[in-house]
Order: sequence, then C-alpha cells, then structure tokens
Amino acid sequence: MPEHIAMIMDGNGRWAQRQGLPRTAGHRAGAENISRVVDICMKHGVKSLTVYAFSTENWKRPVDEVSALMALIPEFCSGRLQDMMKNGVRLRTIGRTSDLPLAARTVLLNTIEKTKNNDKFTLNIALSYGGRAEIVDAVNKMLKDGIKEINEETFRDYLYAGDIPDPAIIIRTGGEMRLSNFLMWESAYSEIYVTDTWWPDFSEEDLVKAFKWFETRDRRFGGIKA
Ligand code: FPP
Repeated sequence: MPEHIAMIMDGNGRWAQRQGLPRTAGHRAGAENISRVVDICMKHGVKSLTVYAFSTENWKRPVDEVSALMALIPEFCSGRLQDMMKNGVRLRTIGRTSDLPLAARTVLLNTIEKTKNNDKFTLNIALSYGGRAEIVDAVNKMLKDGIKEINEETFRDYLYAGDIPDPAIIIRTGGEMRLSNFLMWESAYSEIYVTDTWWPDFSEEDLVKAFKWFETRDRRFGGIKA
C-alpha cells in the first residue's frame, strides 16, 4: 500500500452543474468528501494524503467562488476537529498560506497546533499552492540562509513538507490528463492515475480501483528490472 497518496480534486463544478446547482455547492460537497476519503485511506493502511484544494492560479476565479472556497476552510476545520482528534489525524498545509484571509489562517493554525501530536494519519491540504511557487519559495529561503550549494536531499528540506515522502500515486478526478502545477518536485516518480469520476462522487470503490492498478505498476525509478 502506498504510504503517501495525493489527489487532484477536479470536477466539483461539473458535478454541481449537472444537478442544476451553483459551482460552490460542488466545492462544499467536495470538502465533505475529503473526510470520507481520509477514513477510507486509513482503513486501507495509507499514512498520509495530500489534497489540492486551492492553487496559486485559483485566485483568478470569480470573487464569489474564491470567497466560498475560503469560507469552507474554517467550516472544514471546526467541523472535523473532533473526528481528527478521535482518529489520530494530524492536519498540515502546504502553499503560500499567508495569502489566505485572516479567518482561514487563524483557524488553520489553531487546528494544526491542536492536532500536531496525532500520529495515525496526516492530512495535508494544499492551499494557495503551486509547484513552481514551492520551488521558488524554497530557493528564496536558501538564499536567505546563505546556502551556497545544495544537493537533492538538502533541497528537499526546503520544500513546504520536506519530511513527507514523495507521493507514490497521484490520483486526478474529472478526467483531465495533467498535473496542473501540483507537486512538481515531489511527483518525479509518482504513478499518475486519472479517473473520469468527479471529485464529490469519488468513492471507496474508485480508490480501491486505483490501488489495484497501482499494484500492477512496475516501479523501477529509472533502474532496470531486478
Ligand atoms: C477543481 O474543480 C476544484 C477546486 C478548484 C477546488 C477543490 C476544493 C475542494 C474539493 C474543497 C476545498 C476544501 C477545503 C477544506 C478548503 P473545478 O471547480 O475546476 O471543477 P470543474 O472542472 O468541473 O469546473
């Protein structure tokens, strides 16, 4: 079973539109599905999940949609805290979280602090995240620290979550075959699985299908078959 999996949660808008609902209803259903998928991952022995909730490019969306997504952050944290404590789930974030509105930042910091000793599972939410921004931010931190030379290991330490192993598998819902600036460095050897299912509908059956496919992969990391 992969230790760390990552999800590009696409298709919320289409899911909502199909039902004649506003796009924001799709994001709300999508946020609810994160908790279900955490439970399913835990049941199957995965240790960490990174979800792409808001990209550096998503700020370009209509202001109402951005506000609705930002409002989901405190709602999610407050609504899930009790369960996270009960189930040993630690919350983390990656991204330029200083760009987020104060209310979202405050509740995120609080939840991260309260859950920091939970050790059964890590839920890592990418917020105002971009893979290129992550690399640029890492390089700027290195310059600030006066680093003159790096190697891949020392570079890794400067990423937002350098201590979490690379995702073995990146699952994208909604059918598009691209990474959309997600985990540019960390995805070097990730297996990419794309399903047409829209994120709010992504279920245990879909995840098990992805795991079964993952088991058939011959992961050589550039080497040759043993
Ligand atoms: C892409 O679908 C999805 C997003 C840009 C947002 C994903 C966010 C969530 C699932 C919820 C966030 C949860 C928290 C706690 C902040 P899309 O809107 O581009 O869908 P479409 O391609 O069908 O239009």
